Amino acid sequence: MKDKIAAVLKTGGYHSGEKISEDLNISRTAVWKYINKLKEEGYEIESSTKKGYRLTASPDLVTAAEIKSSLNAGLIGNQIYFKREVDSTNNEAKRNSAAPDGSVFIAELQTDGKGRVGRKWVSRAGDGIWMSILLKPSLAPYEVSIITLAAGLAVSEALADLGLLTGIKWPNDVVAEGRKLCGILTELSAEIDALNYLVVGIGINVNTEHFDGEFAGHATSMYLETGKKYRRADLAARVMVCFEYRYRQLLSGEREKMIADYEKHCLTVGRMVRVLGRGEPFEALGVGINTQGELIVEKDGEKMVLNSGEVSVRGIYGYI
Ligand code: BTN
Repeated sequence: MKDKIAAVLKTGGYHSGEKISEDLNISRTAVWKYINKLKEEGYEIESSTKKGYRLTASPDLVTAAEIKSSLNAGLIGNQIYFKREVDSTNNEAKRNSAAPDGSVFIAELQTDGKGRVGRKWVSRAGDGIWMSILLKPSLAPYEVSIITLAAGLAVSEALADLGLLTGIKWPNDVVAEGRKLCGILTELSAEIDALNYLVVGIGINVNTEHFDGEFAGHATSMYLETGKKYRRADLAARVMVCFEYRYRQLLSGEREKMIADYEKHCLTVGRMVRVLGRGEPFEALGVGINTQGELIVEKDGEKMVLNSGEVSVRGIYGYI
């Protein structure tokens, strides 16, 4: 109900308590209570006995109400589940896997944010976008890794819309000036040949002012790159729109188009990389991405296909 009142106020101008109570079928006291709750959350609301309530400023929160006000949702974000605090939005999505296809789970703070290969993902309140998209496509389990690439591309495109140019380190680290700005963790539930659902978890460092310890050297944020703070709800909505475009492209059989655009953003293609995880580490040249989202490398004139579940790559002079 609080979100509904926020949505009414976001349309602009004054709204009388009486009209809100009639439209939403609640008492005027309830309206007043929800208005106070919104104020506690950081909404600045002017009250006039004659004219009613007027919203003068919204806080930088990633609540469903804030995101919905910038999103004309199609499939992705048709349901948005916000929590101030969760262990991990990926876990939250998995716990609620009966939710509709395209649902988004998002939180201000993750107490146990998960990165790839068992790493931790630092997810402080207010710093970034920590969200997970629940998807139920009719695909075989082996076909889904390409969706992860589509998510990386979507984030890179959403950031470009805001004027921040980034590249993608295969398979899906979004990188600015050699440092990681966004990571993606895809988890799936499947039988041998049938997919139940997958969860695409996206972490974007937006307004982070500093990174500590092991992250200090290789992580960055939009704020650190541009000196500007961003409204996270607007960016989250933008990422959903960009992802929906790429996801539909994949499902409608336009995989090659998506891959071609991914390759343009991919920093690993055209570079010498060090391949870890397939026997002795070796160096090879990244030459392209195949239709399964695998990296094609060339070593001593021979081409090899690398799967992201099996290997990881590093630049030969550093992270990229
Ligand atoms: C990586 O290591 O690059 C992947 C990081 C993925 C982080 C996101 S934040 C939202 C979602 N919830 C998690 O616990 N992890 C992912």
